[in-house]
Amino acid sequence: MRWLLLYHALCFSLSKASAHTVELNDMFGQIQSPGYPDSYPSDSEVTWNITVPDGFRIKLYFMHFNLESSYLCEYDYVKVETEDQVLATFCGRETTDTEQTPGQEVVLSPGSFMSITFRSDFSNEERFTGFDAHYMAVDVDECKEREDEELSCDHYCHNYIGGYYCSCRFGYILHTDNRTCRVECSDNLFTQRTGVITSPDFPNPYPKSSECLYTIELEEGFMVNLQFEDIFDIEDHPEVPCPYDYIKIKVGPKVLGPFCGEKAPEPINTQSHSVLILFHSDNSGENRGWRLSYRAAGNECPELQPPVHGKIEPSQAKYSFKDQVLISCDTGYKVLKDNVEMDTFQIECLKDGTWSNKIPTCKIVDCRAPGELEHGLVTFSTRNNLTTYKSEIRYSCQEPYYKMLNNITGIYTCSAQGVWMNKVLGRSLPTCLPGTSPSKSFASWFSIQGPRTPVQSLICLSLPPLDAVCGLPKFSRKLMARIFNGRPAQQGTTPWIAMLSHLNGQPFCGGSLLGSSWIVTAAHCLHQSLDPEDPTLRNSDLLSPSDFKIILGKHWRLQSDENEQHLGVKHITLHPQYDPSTFENDVALVELLESPVLNAFVMPICLPEGPQQEGAMVIVSGWGKQFLQRFPETLMEIEIPIVDHDTCQKAYAPLKKKVTRDMICAGEKEGGKDACAGDSGGPMVTLNRERGQWYLVGTVSWGDDCGKKDRYGVYSYIHHNKDWIQRVTRLRN
Ligand code: ARG
Repeated sequence: MRWLLLYHALCFSLSKASAHTVELNDMFGQIQSPGYPDSYPSDSEVTWNITVPDGFRIKLYFMHFNLESSYLCEYDYVKVETEDQVLATFCGRETTDTEQTPGQEVVLSPGSFMSITFRSDFSNEERFTGFDAHYMAVDVDECKEREDEELSCDHYCHNYIGGYYCSCRFGYILHTDNRTCRVECSDNLFTQRTGVITSPDFPNPYPKSSECLYTIELEEGFMVNLQFEDIFDIEDHPEVPCPYDYIKIKVGPKVLGPFCGEKAPEPINTQSHSVLILFHSDNSGENRGWRLSYRAAGNECPELQPPVHGKIEPSQAKYSFKDQVLISCDTGYKVLKDNVEMDTFQIECLKDGTWSNKIPTCKIVDCRAPGELEHGLVTFSTRNNLTTYKSEIRYSCQEPYYKMLNNITGIYTCSAQGVWMNKVLGRSLPTCLPGTSPSKSFASWFSIQGPRTPVQSLICLSLPPLDAVCGLPKFSRKLMARIFNGRPAQQGTTPWIAMLSHLNGQPFCGGSLLGSSWIVTAAHCLHQSLDPEDPTLRNSDLLSPSDFKIILGKHWRLQSDENEQHLGVKHITLHPQYDPSTFENDVALVELLESPVLNAFVMPICLPEGPQQEGAMVIVSGWGKQFLQRFPETLMEIEIPIVDHDTCQKAYAPLKKKVTRDMICAGEKEGGKDACAGDSGGPMVTLNRERGQWYLVGTVSWGDDCGKKDRYGVYSYIHHNKDWIQRVTRLRN
């Protein structure tokens, strides 16, 4: 209130002067004509300059208005103006002259300054009471009222009393001009061989006030090509080249551009592997920007010719730097590089436009010489003994001694992997087993067990092996004149004969090969009673397996033979009822450490099918003593008849020697042909003429001296102990 009074006093005192100016800086106030509410003086002029803070405007309105009216307010008036613009001129009386009086009109300053001038002229006809006006600072909503795009917020505007501020959409940063929104785009690295680069927000208008930097950085050897696409719209100027926004391309020290406007630059071959793209935008303008695709090309490498029997992947008309191709060969061929075989080989186009390596060649897969087959051989089905891909070979076993297990074909084909492959066995070799045809032994198995798959049949490997082919010598005896005592055997006619020999080479007994790993001999050969008066069987009197060896394929007694095979002993089994005092069951089985190789000189004898008929001729062989007490040089044999059991028993009755049922006798009544010391254990065999096969009848056991008249040779009767033999050896024939 005090303030108002003071102010009135001031107005009053000033009104005395003809013209003066009042400066007002308050947020609100009252202005009255001089002398108000009395009539104003003539010839007076007062100016009020109202200034409010930035961000405010001034609102002015009149509560009372009473001035002389005149045409165009020539005489008395109130004029409201800014620095450079008249906002309103008022005069007249509220009640009559409505056109130039303010009435309810509110005058609003565009800015923070308003000047009000009151003037009266000299010739007042009447008395006029003047005016009473009020002013106040009002807030400017800059966000709404900024029509000037240059100054308005780029994205968002926030008004507050006395001011405003701008903010930006997500992803944008307010530029230091506090108005425009820029983006951070100075860190774009492109390392791929092709790519697309656009201005930020493309195809929407690009941000203002931004400095974008795009780096294309590739390995040396590449050359970058730039191609602007579809839309190209960068703010330009009709006279000055790209003063506002522009794109520049830097290649090393060279700068291309600036580019702007609506016409995209022509494709650019930068000839460089490293390119910098600069994009500048100023703080105004709405342009859509640009988009470019780049492609890096390298030096081209020469055309490639795939190797014979091979191919190149990928197959292209042109290859350039960094392109890689893989060389591989057709099935059955391998890549050959520097003498090394491999499945594939890769080469690369280098930056100088050459290939990293020569195209290798494709070499046909070679299975090489097929592996040797034990007891078998291999023959080539393809010409020239080829061992290359798809060549065929055939394995066969050494017939008739060995047969192929499971009756497979034995045909192997050279596979693409370079291995010989059989349809059933794969890459494993067939097995040649000593054997009769499988129909005899295994076929029965199959019929009991049902049909088998090839794999199942392989399980048969773990079953006892086939019985070897028996009693079929390759060489047969030539008819010879009868020799009184005996005759040297022809080599190979008795391939089952075994020599039991001490380790020092001294032969001591004979035996016969059964199957592929057994020797049947006389039990007394392996039992050497030290005391002839006490023939009790003592374990200490038994020969141990390491005490002797078995020699097969033998002909000469002491001289070595081309075909002989020396074999170790694994185990000895005497007949459980062997009686050394009576020579009952004088039979033993010797198991070999390993199987001999069956051939024309080594072949097993067959077990008898049934009992032996008396009178049948048998052949007895051995290296035993001749009757002149001399040992022969080679294997000897005699051919004698089987003697009736009763006859034989009677012959030995005077000697109080029993010829039991497990014994069989042979010889001629007049004597002469007989086995003798050293022949023990050896074979007495007979030929089954129907089958053409030889069978073991007995093994040399004992006698009264040798070759005596009315005495016969006594043999351990195999037929009698066949069951035991088969049980021990698990042989079938
Ligand atoms: N016990 C004799 C031996 O150890 C064989 C006797 C055979 N004698 C005979 N006369 N058949 O070799």
